[in-house]
Amino acid sequence: MRTIAFVTQKGGSGKSTLASSIAVAAREAGERVFILDMDPQQSLVKWAKARGAADVPVEAISPGKITQVMNSLAKNGVTLCVIDTAGTESAATAAAMKAADLCIIPSRPNAFDLWASEMTRRAIRELRKDYVFLLNQCPPSQQSARISEGVETLEKLGGLISPLVGARVDYQEAARLGLGVTEIGGAGHAADEIRKLWSSIKRRMAKGKPAAKPAAATRKAA
Ligand SMILES: Nc1ncnc2c1ncn2[C@@H]1O[C@H](COP(=O)(O)OP(=O)(O)OP(=O)(O)O)[C@@H](O)[C@H]1O
Ligand SMILES: [Mg+2]
Repeated sequence: MRTIAFVTQKGGSGKSTLASSIAVAAREAGERVFILDMDPQQSLVKWAKARGAADVPVEAISPGKITQVMNSLAKNGVTLCVIDTAGTESAATAAAMKAADLCIIPSRPNAFDLWASEMTRRAIRELRKDYVFLLNQCPPSQQSARISEGVETLEKLGGLISPLVGARVDYQEAARLGLGVTEIGGAGHAADEIRKLWSSIKRRMAKGKPAAKPAAATRKAA
């Protein structure tokens, strides 16, 4: 079983939105997926209720239970565990980071999110865990200076996963209906980028953690 955790200290950067759509896209690609909701807001527990199907199960758990629950998921044939966390530093977030093969740090292309990403990255590095950044809610191209600044900052911090995720109403509509974007707009841009994103995450996990590089060095997008 592989585990990905969506983490960042910044609220509203898109952790729950992306976790649910990635979980559905992975399910469609043949994974047996289970979501652990470690956010007291329980956004994905609510999402699962709206979904009303058991194909992508969601369970809310406390940090003390994580090892036991993950062992049982692995024994039961789950191949991908997706963890959603709260937008604050907490015991649950630390437990999720420790449990993950790959931590995914979503950030919107604005200064406050980018600063918060750097703090989250520091916490992940202290735990010696692998991570990638994900630029979410990218505005349409007329604001491309903001996007390129976001890309540059996150690449410097080490490891921006592709593709960039656009600000699209499909994400909000899918969340409301308990769906993934691939289920509401099969041929749309959001569905396309989420399928590509799942492929990138999968490749990134297969490759494993890159060898340590000197602090000043930058890495190319994953
Ligand atoms: N790519 C996107 N396009 C459009 N809207 C988005 C996108 N990603 C997220 N949103 C919207 O942004 C808001 C915050 O997203 P979400 O709740 O997923 O963030 P979060 O990081 O889980 O927040 P929290 O830290 O509070 O749990 C929601 O209204 C969601 O619909
Ligand atoms: Mg959330």
